[in-house]
Amino acid sequence: MAFTLSRLLNGFAEKYTPALSLWNGTIVGMSEKGLKIAEISETDYRDFASRHATSPEIGPIQTSFDPSVKEKQKREFEQVLVGLWGCDNLCAVADFHIYPSETDSTKRALKLDSVIVPEELRRRSLASLLVAQIFTDLLSNSGRKIASIYAHSVHPATVRLLRRLQFNDPNVLGAPISHIALDAESRENFVKDCEGQVRDRLNRMKLQCAYCRNGDKRARPWCLPRGEKPPILTPE
Ligand SMILES: CC(C)(COP(=O)(O)OP(=O)(O)OC[C@H]1O[C@@H](n2cnc3c(N)ncnc32)[C@H](O)[C@@H]1OP(=O)(O)O)[C@@H](O)C(=O)NCCC(=O)NCCS
Repeated sequence: MAFTLSRLLNGFAEKYTPALSLWNGTIVGMSEKGLKIAEISETDYRDFASRHATSPEIGPIQTSFDPSVKEKQKREFEQVLVGLWGCDNLCAVADFHIYPSETDSTKRALKLDSVIVPEELRRRSLASLLVAQIFTDLLSNSGRKIASIYAHSVHPATVRLLRRLQFNDPNVLGAPISHIALDAESRENFVKDCEGQVRDRLNRMKLQCAYCRNGDKRARPWCLPRGEKPPILTPE
């Protein structure tokens, strides 16, 4: 199944068609059922963010659509907005920006701008899966020449998630930025790390989807709040 992410801002015309080797947008043989990662519209992203972009740990976060953030945004970038669904439930969203390097026009810097999961679905690795998958896809697209990745990592989960992928921890003083620089070798290792993490998480989640689909009592659906019963799925 084609998986096309293309969100262009300020004249950065590029089409994004990653090779999705690990899944094709559907699982357990039921189209549009189970786990899906795909582009999300700006409207849906903003709606989701307005409901869930806050946490007891750090309070509300700003997204790149907030007028005060937009106003400060001086540089051109390409934007990739993605969502992770469990059947029809949107469970997580993330916003990535790709900037041209200021010193070398052939290179780009990738920023994880924000990742958001509803409070009742947190600590289930949804953010980790979504971020690692999109890093893999964006870095596997050789045309992009991403030479570094960074994120403002203030939330402890973001720090942890990025640390697992070998990002440096944010400085105690100054801007809390986690960062990784990539040369040819480290880039290959980084993609392997991301793929490994996606594979492990995906296998666990697919198993849960299979339990859920079969009405197995071991089902602990990762896409629903604890205790909520899944709908009965009918094969298409
Ligand atoms: C940040 C956020 C996206 C994390 O989502 P999540 O799906 O719960 O994250 P994961 O389950 O993938 O957790 C990633 C890691 O952080 C850990 N973690 C999760 N929540 C944590 C918390 N509150 N404190 C400390 N560690 C935490 C997890 O155990 C996991 O570590 P591990 O892989 O070593 O086990 C979610 O809390 C959120 O949406 N917060 C509001 C928006 C926000 O602040 N976003 C971050 C700024 S962009």
